[in-house]
Amino acid sequence: MKPFDLVIRGGTIATATDVFVADIGIRDGQIASVAADLNDAREIIDARGLIITPGGVDPHCHIEQLAATGLMNADTFETATASAALGGTTTVIPFAAQHVGMSLRAVVEDYHRRAERGAIVDYAFHMILADPRPEVLKDELPPLVRSGHASLKVFLTYDRLKIDDEQFLDVLEAARTHGLMVCVHAENHGMIRWMGKQLMARGYTAPRYHVPSHPRIGEVEGIHRAIACAALIDQPIMVFHVSTAEGAAVIHRARGEGRKVWGETCTQYLLLTCAELDRPGIEGAKWICSPPLREPSDQEALWWALEVGTLQCISSDHAPYRMDDTGKLARGPKPSFKEIANGMPGLELRLPLLFDAMVSKGRLGLSKFVELTATAPAKIYGLHPKKGTIAPGSDADLVLWDPSRSVTIPDAPRRDNAGYTPYAGRTVRGWPVRVFLRGHEIVREGELRAAPGAGRFLPRRGGWAAVPTGRLEPELDPARNFGANLRS
Ligand code: URP
Ligand code: ZN
Ligand code: ZN
Repeated sequence: MKPFDLVIRGGTIATATDVFVADIGIRDGQIASVAADLNDAREIIDARGLIITPGGVDPHCHIEQLAATGLMNADTFETATASAALGGTTTVIPFAAQHVGMSLRAVVEDYHRRAERGAIVDYAFHMILADPRPEVLKDELPPLVRSGHASLKVFLTYDRLKIDDEQFLDVLEAARTHGLMVCVHAENHGMIRWMGKQLMARGYTAPRYHVPSHPRIGEVEGIHRAIACAALIDQPIMVFHVSTAEGAAVIHRARGEGRKVWGETCTQYLLLTCAELDRPGIEGAKWICSPPLREPSDQEALWWALEVGTLQCISSDHAPYRMDDTGKLARGPKPSFKEIANGMPGLELRLPLLFDAMVSKGRLGLSKFVELTATAPAKIYGLHPKKGTIAPGSDADLVLWDPSRSVTIPDAPRRDNAGYTPYAGRTVRGWPVRVFLRGHEIVREGELRAAPGAGRFLPRRGGWAAVPTGRLEPELDPARNFGANLRS
């Protein structure tokens, strides 16, 4: 047996199920062995005192994407994935975003080109379907599935992106045929438009009014409707960025009834509240995202939903816009809340913030941190066991954490292109000091050591085979449950 390329010795290894001290032997970019006393290696790194987690998997981030407003977001694949790497995320699933009238094939090719040129970490795409016309679903989708795309996103709100219930059912049926996961932005579009008009008519235009313009009940209705449509077709869905206690409760009930529904929340809904928007002038625009930040009681409910398994993933929903005329202020220096691009940066700090909250401060603990930020997203989106765990045969994507290092997040630009972070001034304990992608060290002590283009596309197969709860059968007969629903 040839020697290991690298042995990482004596670290405390954390997986979604276990925490233990061992050596990791790496050969040809993969983990070859996890055992005591591995020796025969070209290089040995002493990791005693450090915690080793799998590289983070961020299953929801917007990169170099044409947004609902028609604006490009601030990041390129290079800037976004550099920031991901620095924060310990080694796999991202951004979007290939179709808008109305566009060819899905051309859209996916375009995003492939951009990612191939710029990505520093590995990636797959969720295909956004804003125009699921018959030729897109029947002619364009099947070859894209065959070339390794296994998930879709649809929007139930946003003027340029939303689809109606009938279109949604078409998408669900197509997804069922190919075994794709359908991710849903579930908010009631009519309620958002109506509330927006009411608020504007009364002169409530400041950033803080973005919060009531996306009413809580609109999220509840959107999630409920998404689950109902998915149930009609017997198609699994993932509810993206759950922000309210009531929204999580809808998913909890539906899962209890055996519905094939999964849910994620995001760092910002766990660690920030709508009070952030109550700043003088336009400053609160930095914290405008959709769904909006909510209340402290929602944070508690979301943590609980993560603990009991109602929600399975924590993503960043990284959607960066600068506080200038290319981004948040594109419609003028004093825009109303309706004119401000939705979204905030979060790719880089997702893991350090959550390590601090979950490991250093002890909320849910180290294994649950790994599960929610790496293992479960990898499983749900068909990337496991290549990604999301530390085991023989997995890619050697590893993060070495110094659990005692405290870092105060500066109020200065980070590696991404947003120009600000919503978390400036916070002190976190625990920091990713070395990051490995397929056995190559891509970050050491804050220094990026990989070039744009180092990231690889991760083809996935449809079929839901990897979904962790065991509820879905990969060989599901398409005629069976679907027929039953049509009869009922
Ligand atoms: O405000 C956000 N999250 N913008 C990104 C688009 C989306 O809905 O995920
Ligand atoms: Zn969304
Ligand atoms: Zn998003």
